[in-house]
Amino acid sequence: MRTAIDVFEKVRGHERAEQLRAARENDLLPYFRTLEGPAGPVVEMEGAERVMLGSNNYLGLTGDPRVVQGARDALEAYGTGLTGSRLLNGTIALHLELEAELAAWMGTEDALVFTTGHQANVGTLGTILAPGDTVVADTGDHASILDGCLLSRAKLRAFRHNRLDKLEKQLERAAADGGGVLVVVDGVFSMEGDVAPLPQIADLVERYGARLMVDEAHGAGVLGRRGAGASELFGVEDRVDLRMGTFSKSLASCGGFIAGSHEVVDFLRIQSRAFLFTAAAVPAAVGAALAALRIVDSPEGPELFGRVLDNARYLNRGLHDLGFHVVDPQPLPDGSTVVTPIVPVLVGDDWKAVLLWRALYDAGVFVNVALHPAVPPGGALLRTSVMATHDHATLDRALAAFAAVKAAFEAEHGPLPGA
Ligand SMILES: Cc1ncc(COP(=O)(O)O)c(C=O)c1O
Repeated sequence: MRTAIDVFEKVRGHERAEQLRAARENDLLPYFRTLEGPAGPVVEMEGAERVMLGSNNYLGLTGDPRVVQGARDALEAYGTGLTGSRLLNGTIALHLELEAELAAWMGTEDALVFTTGHQANVGTLGTILAPGDTVVADTGDHASILDGCLLSRAKLRAFRHNRLDKLEKQLERAAADGGGVLVVVDGVFSMEGDVAPLPQIADLVERYGARLMVDEAHGAGVLGRRGAGASELFGVEDRVDLRMGTFSKSLASCGGFIAGSHEVVDFLRIQSRAFLFTAAAVPAAVGAALAALRIVDSPEGPELFGRVLDNARYLNRGLHDLGFHVVDPQPLPDGSTVVTPIVPVLVGDDWKAVLLWRALYDAGVFVNVALHPAVPPGGALLRTSVMATHDHATLDRALAAFAAVKAAFEAEHGPLPGA
């Protein structure tokens, strides 16, 4: 008997196919746009100069001569690739130095470097959780967290984004599930740009006897005096069991890490399939991450964190004053507020977000577009982000484009969500 259904059928009639076709035909696709140089504050893209508000190069270190030299030295010393896994034949001295320096930076006993941040999440969650355990995750958590949870086959209990009452409810239920319980949240949410209320989350986790993991992909290299992330900013580092980070943002490279107790990290070192059964990152990536970490960990680090955070506040305020809907600066326990380098502009409707993106692109500003499932349905947004290397004049140029585009856009397509 022949099978009734072609397994490739799904590639033809999927729900996004029509949207994608229409966007491509009208040159409205905001994705796979090509950069023609480094991701600086102003970039060359597709034949024109554009203000870059769509990069995670938060500290602007991807073109820093010391980071480039770190990559070059590693390339010269170890060649273009490691052609094998960390376990068998892909570990070099740079990995061990990087792991020691990451653990010192995070203030943990140990750290483990993965080839990507996605693998760090999948390889940690998929290994430390098992069937019978329960994982409690924020609905805004990154896709790689969800992938790790699903891979583990632990029971997944999601709670509504940043809602402590819902978290508590899920912890109550999880306690009755009968296995170990891990809560996992982003320290800074990658699309919303808001921070997790980590002190209150840690209180609940402790009350229910669970464990806590924080994804610091967007907080590391930006928040806290040492730039160690949201856990440092909130003063809860010793209450967080596992901290994940990536090199693909502030650390100007590609790769990821998990930091925590020696006991857990060493277990991952010999058990994590996403660590063991993949090739180690290319030496240049490891060398660049190490050079970037040394800048972050030097007296220059806090200056860079200060600059990127100042730029974030400046852009957030500017967009707010123009009447766009942005996230309010968020309160911290000491009475101050924080605006992270991710400054989303809420649009709501998918097509409106795409049309607004195109108008800004034509006006010389590049931003990212987040549609469902990256955000909840009906929650389309333009994700803008800043770097330490932007200056106010360049951000003013972007704000002027936002102002010009808004008036014309609303005249044609109706009002955007207000400030
Ligand atoms: C919150 C978060 N976690 C994990 C990752 C995965 O990191 P990487 O890009 O290094 O694979 C990302 C990046 O996309 C992220 O935003």
